[in-house]
Amino acid sequence: MQDDWATFGADLHLDLRGTRLRAGLMDALREAVRSGRLAPGTRLPSSRQLAADLGVARNTVADAYAELVAEGWLTARQGSGTRVARRAAPRPAPGAEAAAAAGEGGRSPAPPAPPAGPTPGGSAWRVARRRTSPPAYDLRSGTPDLASFPRAAWLKAYRRALATAPNEAFGYGDPRGRQELRTALAEYLARARGVHARPERIVICSGFAHGLMLIGRALRGRGARAVGVESYGLGPHAGLLRDAGLATPPLPFDERGTRVEELTSLAPDAVLLTAAHQFPLGGALPPDRRTAVVDWARATGGHVLEDDYDGEFRYDRQPVGALQGLDPERVVYLGTASKSLAPGLRLAWMVLPESLVDEVVAAKGAVVDWMCGTPDQLAFADFLATGAHDRHVRAMRLRYRHRRDQLVAALADRAPGIRVGGIAAGLHAVLSLPPGTEAAALRSAAWHGLAVQGLGHFRHPQARRTLEGLVVGYGTPPDSAWQGALQALCRVLEGVDTARSPEDA
Ligand SMILES: Cc1ncc(COP(=O)(O)O)c(C=O)c1O
Repeated sequence: MQDDWATFGADLHLDLRGTRLRAGLMDALREAVRSGRLAPGTRLPSSRQLAADLGVARNTVADAYAELVAEGWLTARQGSGTRVARRAAPRPAPGAEAAAAAGEGGRSPAPPAPPAGPTPGGSAWRVARRRTSPPAYDLRSGTPDLASFPRAAWLKAYRRALATAPNEAFGYGDPRGRQELRTALAEYLARARGVHARPERIVICSGFAHGLMLIGRALRGRGARAVGVESYGLGPHAGLLRDAGLATPPLPFDERGTRVEELTSLAPDAVLLTAAHQFPLGGALPPDRRTAVVDWARATGGHVLEDDYDGEFRYDRQPVGALQGLDPERVVYLGTASKSLAPGLRLAWMVLPESLVDEVVAAKGAVVDWMCGTPDQLAFADFLATGAHDRHVRAMRLRYRHRRDQLVAALADRAPGIRVGGIAAGLHAVLSLPPGTEAAALRSAAWHGLAVQGLGHFRHPQARRTLEGLVVGYGTPPDSAWQGALQALCRVLEGVDTARSPEDA
């Protein structure tokens, strides 16, 4: 086995003619690795030696090595030199590799590209997630550990619900959803999230996205023109508001979170906030800003749309209660079972100000979009009322917390220069990266068979500030893949140049 550069000698056949030297050298090395001519683990010559062999400046080789390390093709360790990376995953599918090779103007045949970023309108985002071939490891945020769905408990709830449902439950019903579920939710939300909820103000919807669409339509119907959104968030959600005919200007943010004081000058009709756990950056809106945003809504007649997508999962402190508790007439509360149970259920709920109930129900449309299926609603009502939901959330909280602790410990050990944020709650963490390194880290992740998203994926196109980092959905993989995913992530981060400063970007 060719384990050392010496056994290759000068026989690498790197063809640099006719290309810019560093780019050409990088292409030639990538090609040598991809074709297998340079096997994983092979030690490369020192930059000095290769520069002398090729008759180029030493910096040219050193820079090419550094960039290939950042991309994950090579590894560099003190004492063991620069080596071809040992790949964590099987080769990408030929189609994916060809597509990647065609990218970047054909100059830089990168490993397979991560899923496409969000697109206005939203649906392409989910379609992209469905169509890409499965990566070896998945740390994309957005789904809980689907292998942990409580099938047995859900089945019991479903059986009970079907056995006891009155016949009329299988007919057309109240467009707000089943009374049993709205009653169970009112109790649960008051107890677990501090929401002021009366069943008649609750509307069941098919996922948060559906609820947001309905609110958008209702607000537009009242003449609203704009809903302020966070500078970092889910593009498809802003897209749904735009589909309803609303502008979605981004609110600036600082290290304390979204600068809600800017609402006064931005003057939107409503604002969409992930107040308890900003998605994706991770912080909770501080108390003075919580009060300020509600004061703004009261003073202007505006509304706060509160996206409480993962409020059940908070680890080190008391849960941050829902903003809605501060003023149920100005805050629209939106919750979902997509994180606590599974997105496939498409079960979510809105708690509405009294003045909006009729308009939202009208927006739902009594024929086109009557309501969500009653058997699932009744099963969920039973699941909540019997304590099965509490038991499931408690068990998952322990499991996710354990993973979060393992993530933090692994990074402290393997990538101590990387700052981890947003870990007090939820199912994802944010790893801050030095300016100019996110794209290379994503390419490296793809090379290691790891699907993960960069912060750029979540940036509003008009946001004033740009942050770089990886959003790590540590809740996503099943237990069987978690350690592998964590190791792949560490390998990626070991290649990040943490000494890079903003001037290098
Ligand atoms: C910020 C945020 N809001 C809401 C949701 C839930 O969306 P839905 O209920 O449509 O599945 C998610 C899920 O990924 C999310 O990340």
